[in-house]
Amino acid sequence: MGVAERARTDVRAPEVEWSPAEIGELGEAVSRAPSVHNSRPWSLTLHQRTAVLREDPARRMQHDQEGRDQRISCGAAVMNLVLAVRSLGWSAQVELGASGGLVSAAVNAGEPADPSPREATWAREIPERRSHREPFSGKPVPELLREKIWDAAAGARGGGRWINSDAEAAEVAGMLSRSATAFQADAGYTRELAVWVTPEGTRLRTESEGLDGLAAAGLTAVTTRVPDEPVLARLLREEAVLLVGTRGDRAIDHLRAGQAVERAWLEATGSGLSVSMMTQPLHVPEVRTGLAERLGTSLIPQAIMRFGYPKGF
Ligand SMILES: Cc1cc2nc3c(=O)[nH]c(=O)nc-3n(C[C@H](O)[C@H](O)[C@H](O)COP(=O)(O)O)c2cc1C
Repeated sequence: MGVAERARTDVRAPEVEWSPAEIGELGEAVSRAPSVHNSRPWSLTLHQRTAVLREDPARRMQHDQEGRDQRISCGAAVMNLVLAVRSLGWSAQVELGASGGLVSAAVNAGEPADPSPREATWAREIPERRSHREPFSGKPVPELLREKIWDAAAGARGGGRWINSDAEAAEVAGMLSRSATAFQADAGYTRELAVWVTPEGTRLRTESEGLDGLAAAGLTAVTTRVPDEPVLARLLREEAVLLVGTRGDRAIDHLRAGQAVERAWLEATGSGLSVSMMTQPLHVPEVRTGLAERLGTSLIPQAIMRFGYPKGF
């Protein structure tokens, strides 16, 4: 019996509290959201029929002083929360908020309502979604899938922008190289990165963050070499690279960016694609505005997502 069916047979009025099974499902979905350095920088409180997710400033990473990554992570978690409520067979009214620079979202489970086929698919993919940190196979991502991912990322105040041509790839490579140089001198970030990428925190794992991947541009450290711009541009063309952006750049927009990221990620996962994600280059204001200008988009870039097939697919 599906989760939605199970919930409906309970015949509970909306004012009745969440059942233990529902609490388990909501907590599980939220905990599986992608988050910067897997920090899960949120708290989840369940009231009668409302689930409230709040940004937790105590879990802010040193490299993320503005809290952009933290809020994008919260947005991804909100998306999973909404999908969990929907797949439990309830309508979901979502209210996003920001106060004192911290974001929150209240998701109210209203009337019994089936999830749409797309919501049901995305909810099913929540446990399957994961970060890919190896090279892709080189097999191109079909245009139809690109369209589906773009559509998933699109929202009322945000969306995505694919890197579409050699000229665009060269522009983006130039901006990424610039940010890589900026971060190479950032000892605090490098240390944090080292702790993150190796269990013992003593050495960097070069095969993924390192020597020839596109990630090297965003994840540089003293021991990694920034690929030169033509190499980076070639990788940008070979992979399917989506810039996720928002119309504004306030705290609440970062929350929306996270929702867009998670929708695109779940859509891609359901289509057999692997996904890598980075935001660090976009912490540099000139890189954010430079990228938007050079690509001629009114969206403010918030995240870079790379899509491809895993090796052996
Ligand atoms: C805002 C944000 C920024 C991230 N930046 C990076 C990144 O720069 N490099 C990377 O490999 N993963 C990055 N990730 C992915 C997280 O490291 C990943 O979601 C987390 O470790 C949990 O692993 P999972 O995605 O496999 O569940 C980022 C995720 C978020 C939400």
